[in-house]
Amino acid sequence: MQTEFNDLVEQHLGARLPQQLAASVDLTKLPPDTRTFIERMLVLMKRAGYGVEQFNTALIRWLSVTIPTMLPRAWGGRIPPITLPGRHQKLDTYVADAYSPPFDNVPVYVDIGCGFPPVTTADTARALADWQIYGVDRSFADFVLYDEAGHYACFDQEGEFQYFQASMDPSGRALYEDPATTRRRFESLYAYLFTLLPESDGKVSQSIEKDGNRLIQNHIRDFETDNLILIKKDLMQLDLPPATVIRCMNILIYFDLQSRKKMLSHTCKLLADGGMLIAGTNGYGIQTRYAVYRKNGEGLSVDEFAFSLDNLGHIVFMPWFSMHENDPEAMLLAELAGTIRGDGQFWPSFSGRLDELLKTQRICVRGSDGFLQALAKEMPLAEYFQKNAAIWQQLEEDGYPARAVEVLEYAGHKAWINGVGDIAIEPQPGTLPMG
Ligand SMILES: C[S@@+](CC[C@H](N)C(=O)[O-])C[C@H]1O[C@@H](n2cnc3c(N)ncnc32)[C@H](O)[C@@H]1O
Repeated sequence: MQTEFNDLVEQHLGARLPQQLAASVDLTKLPPDTRTFIERMLVLMKRAGYGVEQFNTALIRWLSVTIPTMLPRAWGGRIPPITLPGRHQKLDTYVADAYSPPFDNVPVYVDIGCGFPPVTTADTARALADWQIYGVDRSFADFVLYDEAGHYACFDQEGEFQYFQASMDPSGRALYEDPATTRRRFESLYAYLFTLLPESDGKVSQSIEKDGNRLIQNHIRDFETDNLILIKKDLMQLDLPPATVIRCMNILIYFDLQSRKKMLSHTCKLLADGGMLIAGTNGYGIQTRYAVYRKNGEGLSVDEFAFSLDNLGHIVFMPWFSMHENDPEAMLLAELAGTIRGDGQFWPSFSGRLDELLKTQRICVRGSDGFLQALAKEMPLAEYFQKNAAIWQQLEEDGYPARAVEVLEYAGHKAWINGVGDIAIEPQPGTLPMG
């Protein structure tokens, strides 16, 4: 007999989901990479003490619709350039607090695996105006096509489709439900607009707009400014002036431990002595986890491992996002979350308050079966993000980060709230790879 999703949930979390919730995840219909993703997720959930009763329709939809279109297999094996403006705002503040002008020499900041379009590197160049910023990625698409709703697709030099990403427009959800149709729609728009595109010498961007759809060649050139240079290169081939700070967000996660160590070693070579490396993972500016490394002499040491309070939520995705078994950052976060969820004082208070806020914001309510029930059939993403932000701001104002720190200290960790309000610990040696 086939193992069902609910069997896996029961094996890992000790209880079954209501059948109407579990039924949307049909393991037999999901690609193999999504099935292994789900198994890793359940391992992390168990370690994090995530109760089966926190499963919700948004998480189920993420597993059945979003994850199959997010993993590299869906994009011809390439690591997708997924990114969004504002995603690393908090990390920009972290760096601005750690290094304040005036500087004797212009400090160098390198954003590795900046994604495309490089909107987060552009954010950083604006936030750290006194710095020289480099955005580096091994792949920048040659053509980008924005449709009238702001959804976009990337094409290579030969006009081969590479990737699409939905905007926050409510029509975005449907794009992922039928990715093949989405791709065909973008391909035919591209074929039409390409014939109208003016010649390009590659030094500047060229674009053509028709009926709200805009095709841009060499879009990368639109992002360069006085303090921002964009470089198409693999990290392992990169050579730049010694960097004061390197950011490596949402990239190492795609690599196995051995490759990750090599990449960390190479970033270490690129850092100035005493320089800082920030490496980690997050969603669209939420559910963040990161390690802050420091170059000391020839090697790296870890100053802190930090995570945002929202990783402890009921409706969460990123704590379960990993590409390889035993991802060190995901495992460490799960262990810390498990300690916090296991605290008999903290958890009932926090979890109850979160339920209350989810209800006040009209997102969901806990039903008589103990499970969360959505209050709106389909909430536009932008509205959900706004409500979600209000919930986490309230929980911060309620003082839960400081209480979570106390729980971690009681469990023997050196813990604190860092300069940008995240919960930080000093990891035990060997917990995180150093290169
Ligand atoms: C998921 S995107 C992350 C984008 C951005 N850092 C963010 O957090 O929004 C990962 C990017 O890493 C790039 N990448 C993967 N391996 C790389 C490597 N070895 N050297 C340079 N870029 C790499 C991919 O091309 C992709 O654009």
